[in-house]
Amino acid sequence: MRAGSLRTRLVASTLLLLAIASTVIAVVTTVSLREILLRRLDGDVRAADRVLIRAERGSPPSLEVRDRGPRPPDTLTAVIRDGTVIAAAVFPIGEDPRPVPEPVHGVLAGVPVGERPRSVDLGPLGDYRVVATPMPMGDVIVSGLPEAPVQATVTWLVLIELVVTGITLAGAGAAAAIVVRRELRPLERVAATAARVSALPLDRGEVSLVERVPDVDPGTEVGQVGSALNRMLDNVGSALEARHESEVRLRRFIADASHELRTPLAAISGYAELTRREELSPDVEYSLVRIASQTERMTALVEDLLLLARLDAGRPLERGEVDLTALVVDAVADAHAAGPDHRWQLDVPEQPVTVPGDGSRLAQVLANLLANARTHTPPGTTVTVALTAGPSGARLSVTDDGPGIAPDLLPHIFERFARGSAGRSRDNGSTGLGLAIVRAVVGAHGGRVEVSSEPGRTEFVVRLPGSAP
Ligand SMILES: Nc1ncnc2c1ncn2[C@@H]1O[C@H](COP(=O)(O)OP(=O)(O)OP(=O)(O)O)[C@@H](O)[C@H]1O
Ligand SMILES: [Mg+2]
Repeated sequence: MRAGSLRTRLVASTLLLLAIASTVIAVVTTVSLREILLRRLDGDVRAADRVLIRAERGSPPSLEVRDRGPRPPDTLTAVIRDGTVIAAAVFPIGEDPRPVPEPVHGVLAGVPVGERPRSVDLGPLGDYRVVATPMPMGDVIVSGLPEAPVQATVTWLVLIELVVTGITLAGAGAAAAIVVRRELRPLERVAATAARVSALPLDRGEVSLVERVPDVDPGTEVGQVGSALNRMLDNVGSALEARHESEVRLRRFIADASHELRTPLAAISGYAELTRREELSPDVEYSLVRIASQTERMTALVEDLLLLARLDAGRPLERGEVDLTALVVDAVADAHAAGPDHRWQLDVPEQPVTVPGDGSRLAQVLANLLANARTHTPPGTTVTVALTAGPSGARLSVTDDGPGIAPDLLPHIFERFARGSAGRSRDNGSTGLGLAIVRAVVGAHGGRVEVSSEPGRTEFVVRLPGSAP
């Protein structure tokens, strides 16, 4: 049980309430019992007093206190004349009277005459309940009984109360812990279900939300929480299903549209090519060149969109052993041909590095990264392509010493249609899909791509797992 948990707090507050109730009961019982016992003692004190008065009556004034008739043990009797104790003794049963020590005589002389019995502290004799009665001759008789039996009874009661309360609290604590645990078990089931649901990957793909809180009893509050959670899960589940369906429809639409666009695009570029073979005026010639180049661009765009739609739909990749070294060498050679003004450097190990995957897609990854290093940097930039093989797979990096990527673009660089200053890029035929494709392809291979950039050093690092994910 953790401190501060609901269980701990419930048990603790139950115990606290019980402790307060027990204390109130104990205090009231103790005070009442003491009161009752003292009152009974007061009755006895008065009775002792009468015995003594009878004993005194009719005898000549004498300073001797005589004990006649039955009385409780340790009765105290004192005769006070003119404010001074002239005789005071305690009368045990079956023993000789013991004189009251001098130092407490003052206390006895000070007992107010004719009032209700009161408690006085008689030093070595302990506490006494005493009453002072005037005698016809002018003397005052103080009679008293020890309070010790009352005090002993009360002490016993307090001890018993302490022990019983302690045992009761311990037992109640254990019982409360068991009961609370049993009562909170349904809540734990709710929490466990919620935890399982929160661990589900709900953000993409087809999600089947089958988790439900088991054994809910709508008659209890906790059961109501459980069934509310279940209803919410029903709701979320169907919403996710609907979302997934519409996503699937959209993807299929994009894939179909891209696929359908390929054919007319091929036809357009074919016709443009054909027409250019004719004798044409320079204007028409120019238009045809533009048509051809725009068609080429649109074909590339459509191909990119189709590839992304297929990767989104989770189309299985072709699986084979891909020789990354060969891919890198070819890609750098192509880049060199396309960008002779850049300096291209290659850093590959002697042993060929292979990974499982789809060769033509991985070639596209390389081509996109190298095209970026070529088109988004000025001539004369050095581009280094490095490949290393580690125990967990291959690491491929494309580094250039160009101007770098704008800091506000960097966090979004792998998003679709994210590209640098739009005006300039569009002139290059830039669409902003290149790095989105890199990420999608690498992700489909179970790998990761990262970028770091500052002016003078931009690095893309692709990690591909060595064995099938
Ligand atoms: N090596 C780099 N140096 C500087 N900027 C870069 C580099 N690589 C990418 N970028 C920036 O990132 C943007 C996005 O790149 P991405 O490859 O996704 O799209 P694109 O190259 O603009 O278009 P596409 O590749 O689809 O033709 C680019 O527009 C460019 O501004
Ligand atoms: Mg690009």
